[in-house]
Amino acid sequence: MSKQRAGVFIAFEGGDGAGKSTQAGRLAAELETRGYTVRRTREPGGTPVGEKLRSLVLDHGNGEIDAHTEALIFAASRAAHASQVIRPALGRGEIVLTDRYIDSSVAYQGAGRGLGQDAVKSLNDWATSGLQPHLTVLLDVDPRLGRSRRTAGEAAEDRLESEADDFHARIRKAFLDLAASRPGSYLVLPADLPVDELTARILARVDVLLAAPVPSFTVPAGHGTDGAGS
Ligand code: TYD
Repeated sequence: MSKQRAGVFIAFEGGDGAGKSTQAGRLAAELETRGYTVRRTREPGGTPVGEKLRSLVLDHGNGEIDAHTEALIFAASRAAHASQVIRPALGRGEIVLTDRYIDSSVAYQGAGRGLGQDAVKSLNDWATSGLQPHLTVLLDVDPRLGRSRRTAGEAAEDRLESEADDFHARIRKAFLDLAASRPGSYLVLPADLPVDELTARILARVDVLLAAPVPSFTVPAGHGTDGAGS
């Protein structure tokens, strides 16, 4: 039986190569050891339709995808993710850890592609019926470090990753601006800290969140088919 009384929603954000997946995995393992039920997920993707949208938008070779189309594909993937995965898990009282959420669209499509951060935020608030994380962990990465980490492995860069450095610099600034606008809901950490130190600092912040009173975990009602989380 799960230990927590209400669901907790935590998003990991940051530029490509920031180390989000590593830290989300470490946090999940630690929380599970303590008896919490953890749902790890990611965007784009996380549902069958979302995984198809993921390859459509990230793979090279799908023809031209203009900025508006790109933003709508990410938002469509997120709508399915919020209604089919995140809300139901929160309704069951689980801790949801997502690798990327709305801030990624605000940063990549709003700032990176120049669609406007407010417009992209509104689109995604509509797509998710206003479902916001209780905490966003932002791993702030210098775009040059991110690229050198990405290109060190075997995998080729996807459509977004292979964009120029100034694109990634705009994204970095947008993430930091989002965090600065609501500091109480963010933990911002430099991605080049030692991996163990990052994990310890994230865990310390999550401990504070888990100790917070239950009413702060209210989940707004959604438009999905699950009926949970309201
Ligand atoms: P991700 O799977 O996190 O890539 P990686 O694990 O290699 O960091 O994200 C894939 C790419 O999609 C990444 O370059 C960021 C981009 N992206 C957007 O542009 N907008 C979005 O809303 C999301 C969720 C991701």
